[in-house]
Amino acid sequence: MKTINIAIDGPAGAGKSTIAKMVSKEMGYIYVDTGALYRTIALFITENNIADKDIESSLEKADVSLKFIDGAQRVFLGSRDVSDLIRTPEISMAASRTSAIPEVRAYLFETQQKIARENNVIMDGRDIGTVVLPNADVKIFLTASAEERANRRYKELLEKPDCPTYQEILDDIIKRDYQDMHRKTAPLKQAEDAVLVDTTKLNLEESAAAIVKVIKDKIG
Ligand code: DC
Repeated sequence: MKTINIAIDGPAGAGKSTIAKMVSKEMGYIYVDTGALYRTIALFITENNIADKDIESSLEKADVSLKFIDGAQRVFLGSRDVSDLIRTPEISMAASRTSAIPEVRAYLFETQQKIARENNVIMDGRDIGTVVLPNADVKIFLTASAEERANRRYKELLEKPDCPTYQEILDDIIKRDYQDMHRKTAPLKQAEDAVLVDTTKLNLEESAAAIVKVIKDKIG
């Protein structure tokens, strides 16, 4: 049976994961956060101090997998659930660098396609509509201004110890956008047949509603 695949791509901090989770609940689909896969490879490389030249040959030892527990995605490195460990600014930056390596992308490609073949999914990332699921039923490019994305992240981090300044967060976002959009392999870009949703002036509920509308207009 053909599964329904919805691709959501966009820059860091556009709200992809929060919004995609809300939409997937409403549609009854599995939500797949592909950034977690790149983050887990980055963690593996960092923890094991793997030099750039050895990354390709060490990937087969990485053993990265996704499990869906009560509908929520968890990511595993071997038997270890690393879903929370991968959410640090260091791993964010390392994941952006690691994801530019073609062999890393090739290694994760089949994992992502297999999940989409077997489940109705809303999958978010940077190259889902352009590379991983070029035949997705619906493609959305979700974005917001860099300042608004930095502002949202700053508010999220405000209660945490060692909260970075707004300017540090904005600089990180601009740097990551640049890296993600200018790498040679599968750079972040809007697929020709993707619908652009700009959430700069929308709250979460409005953003989710805008996406549900795009999906329902396309597939009923
Ligand atoms: O979505 P995120 O911030 O968790 O992603 C972490 C990094 O992984 C991001 O800087 C770019 C990379 N990534 C990618 O190259 N392709 C994807 N499909 C998802 C993420």
